[in-house]
Parts: sequence; C-alpha cells; structure tokens
Amino acid sequence: MLTQAELLTKKGTYIRQMFGSIARVYDLLNTILSFNLDKSWRKFAVRVSNVVPDAKILDVCTGTGDLAIEYSRVLNQNGKVIGSDFCHEMVKIAGRKLKKKGLSGKIEVIGADTLHLPFRDNYFHISAVAFGIRNVSGLRSGIIEMMRITVPGGRVVILEFSQPTNPLFRGIYYFYFKKVLPCIGKLISRSRYNAYSYLPTSVVNFPDRYELRAEMESCGLQNVEIYSRTLGIVTIHIGQKALQ
Ligand SMILES: C[S@@+](CC[C@H](N)C(=O)[O-])C[C@H]1O[C@@H](n2cnc3c(N)ncnc32)[C@H](O)[C@@H]1O
Repeated sequence: MLTQAELLTKKGTYIRQMFGSIARVYDLLNTILSFNLDKSWRKFAVRVSNVVPDAKILDVCTGTGDLAIEYSRVLNQNGKVIGSDFCHEMVKIAGRKLKKKGLSGKIEVIGADTLHLPFRDNYFHISAVAFGIRNVSGLRSGIIEMMRITVPGGRVVILEFSQPTNPLFRGIYYFYFKKVLPCIGKLISRSRYNAYSYLPTSVVNFPDRYELRAEMESCGLQNVEIYSRTLGIVTIHIGQKALQ
C-alpha cells in the first residue's frame, strides 16, 4: 500500500507499481470515466501534430498504446511509431492489443523509462506523450529527454489533463473529478494504491497551461502552441525543437 504523499513524490518504483495495479482495467476505466472522450482527445492531438506520412514518432509513457495507435493511422508504410513505457504490465497489454488489431508490424512497444530513452539524439520527427508526463519524476528532465531524441525542427507534443478556466464549470467538474471519479475508479480497479485518487490530486498539483508552456520554452522549445479541449479539461501543448 502506498500513500498519496508517496505517490506524489513520483518516484519511479511507486508510479510503476500503481500503474501495474490498474493496467488490466486501464482502458475500460478510461472509457467510462472520460465518457469515451479520451479517444477524441488523442485524435485531436494527432491532428494538430502536423504529421508527415513517413514520420518516425515516439509515444513515451504509452501505457496500453492508444496514442501510438492514433499516430499510426496517419502514417504510410514508410512511417514508424514506437511506444515506450516503464510499466511491464502496461507494455504487455499494449503488445496484446496491437497483435489483436493487426498493428504489430506498424507499431513497436518497448519497455523504457522516459527519463532515459534508449534512442540516439535527433532521431524522431515527433515525440509525444498523453497523460504521462505528469507522472514522471522531473517534468523538466522528461521534456529535455523528449527533445534530445527529436530532430531539429521536430515537435514535442504533450496531451495532459488541465484545470478548466470557467469557474462555474470548474466547480461542477471538480465535484466529479475529485469525489465521484475516485470512487468509481476504486470500485472497478480494486487497486490497493488508490490510483484514481492520485489522478485528481496530481492534476491539481501539476503546472497550469501557461506554466507548462513556460517550462517547455525554458527547455528550449519554440513556438509553443496550446490547444484546449472539452472546456479545458485537457490541453495539448506543441513545441518545436530549434533548427540549430
Ligand atoms: C496515465 S497512463 C497514460 C497512458 C497512455 N499514454 C494513454 O494515453 O492512456 C501513464 C503511463 O505513464 C507511464 N509512466 C509514468 N512514468 C514513466 C516513466 N518515467 N517512464 C516511462 N513510463 C512512465 C506509466 O507506466 C503509465 O503507463
């Protein structure tokens, strides 16, 4: 059993255990708890990523591979997507899902820590992450590592939960997000780690959309754009690596 305080340290071993405990029901709970909106958020992130059809794309913190799958849909046979995650259970489920969908030849899933990616510098046209960077111990180090493996002129794409700006909507949403969602999450996942209580707490403690943009810029990303979806429940940040 891990406490919320321990989880919020974002120590890799804690985060890995927590996600391992919910991996088997992760997709189902995403669908239920987001009212199936999660798929449209990832699709939108891909749409605004400006992908060329033969791009090489890395989806870090890939979980069960859903963002990698969305990217693979816009690539031709010369394009390539790799999904990486440090949670063995997630990687296993992603692998099974790709096989079932007949996508194993198009997408590769590997075990890797986002803070130490096993790729050379300047390799991918896009490095992307959905709902993952918030859990990495060291936001800045994570962004810098994603930038390292991205080609000059390539993009770093971050899809993440954010805090709705409209106060009325925020009140209603927070009631759901902080009170209802953790109960449903606990009931269905039976996770000992209270992963679905950690979710809202970690979102509220995460930099807001302007702070995240500032962090990306201070890492050296340029022209950082912000796209909000569903009244600001999620945002997509896209920054470009300098051409050198
Ligand atoms: C909330 S899930 C997101 C999964 C997926 N990207 C999606 O869109 O549903 C977060 C994932 O990030 C992974 N993760 C967290 N920290 C990581 C790290 N430092 N290195 C690799 N994976 C990490 C977890 O194992 C988990 O699978």
